Amino acid sequence: MNRERYSDKLGKIKEAGNYRHLREMQFNGFLVHHDGREMLNLSSNDYLGLASNPALYEAFKRETDVEALAYSSSSSRLLSGNHAYYTLLERDLADMYTKEAALVFASGYHANIGILPALAGKRDLIIADKLVHASIIDGARLSDAEFARYHHLDYDHLRETLFKSREQYENVFIVSESIFSMDGDVADLQELCDIKREYDALLYIDEAHAAGTRGTNGLGCCEEQGCIRDIDFIVGTFGKAFASHGAYVACDDLFKEYLVNTQRSLIFTTALPPIIVAWTRFILRGMPARLPERERLAVIADRLRAALTGRGYVTGGSHIVPCLCGSNEASVTLSRQFRDNGFFVLPIRYPTVPKNGARLRFSLNAAIPDEDYDCLFDFIETSC
Ligand SMILES: Cc1ncc(COP(=O)(O)O)c(C=O)c1O
Repeated sequence: MNRERYSDKLGKIKEAGNYRHLREMQFNGFLVHHDGREMLNLSSNDYLGLASNPALYEAFKRETDVEALAYSSSSSRLLSGNHAYYTLLERDLADMYTKEAALVFASGYHANIGILPALAGKRDLIIADKLVHASIIDGARLSDAEFARYHHLDYDHLRETLFKSREQYENVFIVSESIFSMDGDVADLQELCDIKREYDALLYIDEAHAAGTRGTNGLGCCEEQGCIRDIDFIVGTFGKAFASHGAYVACDDLFKEYLVNTQRSLIFTTALPPIIVAWTRFILRGMPARLPERERLAVIADRLRAALTGRGYVTGGSHIVPCLCGSNEASVTLSRQFRDNGFFVLPIRYPTVPKNGARLRFSLNAAIPDEDYDCLFDFIETSC
């Protein structure tokens, strides 16, 4: 047995400045405690501040018989784990998306590593944006289909590739995120719908960072850009703006039935706890009323971009705001500077992002008060 192989590799990871460790954190609403310091949490995906809203927990308890809901489902959905709340949640999702069906999963990772391998086989092509999330890449690799990438947001490149190769395949799956997790930039979903029609393809959009944060009713960029009907698979997660856990796909009846019968990451895993499914449904039903929070996020993001640009940083994004630093070392130093001053914002380094594309990644939270954001903007304007 060769243990050195693992310690050598860890040494190389350290040398490259990419060593990761699990921080022990404590939370107090949108504040985070770490290393004896209290900081504003700008590295969480609680975009609407719902996870840090105790009043919401109280409202849930008033409205729901929580005593009757277990903290474990103790079984797969296909055995005895399919609590009645799953049916209610899936019906609500399908109704809100005006799709025939919806299917809920244990996490976004389970959704992305399971749906594509279930649906795409040997005669098919999966073609994905170069910057899609690791879970989508893992899903494509697990499938028997051919896997290709197009340059990030470069729809001419996507068209070119399909023009050359479409005829070789039976089914083609075009896959993109709507808001990209590392850069916060937004896909042109109308354009992707046009391409899908031109090339008789299926369109799979991961709305993990847009569900709850975009669209009048919080359904995501597919709602905002008016193309719910044309997207075959709308995937969203509940662990971010929804302040819960799990994920879903909105699709048609045939695909739901097929996934229930073939998707390994649905069949061979324990169902979500009933209390979580009920909580998710409670949050989902309140999502349309959260337009003011969604609008506030956009305003704060614009202010943050203005402050960063004013100091010469390259930025962009949406409510996920990148601040490009160049080298891994530069991003680590800048992150430390922010943390020393009460702002918990973490560096994202190569190889998660391209070489010399290291950045800080600000994840904004609509519940953080203006005074706290003012402190952040003052700090950037005077000290960064
Ligand atoms: C785009 C995208 N898809 C899927 C996931 C995975 O979701 P989950 O955390 O529910 O497994 C993430 C997680 O960050 C993500 O950013």
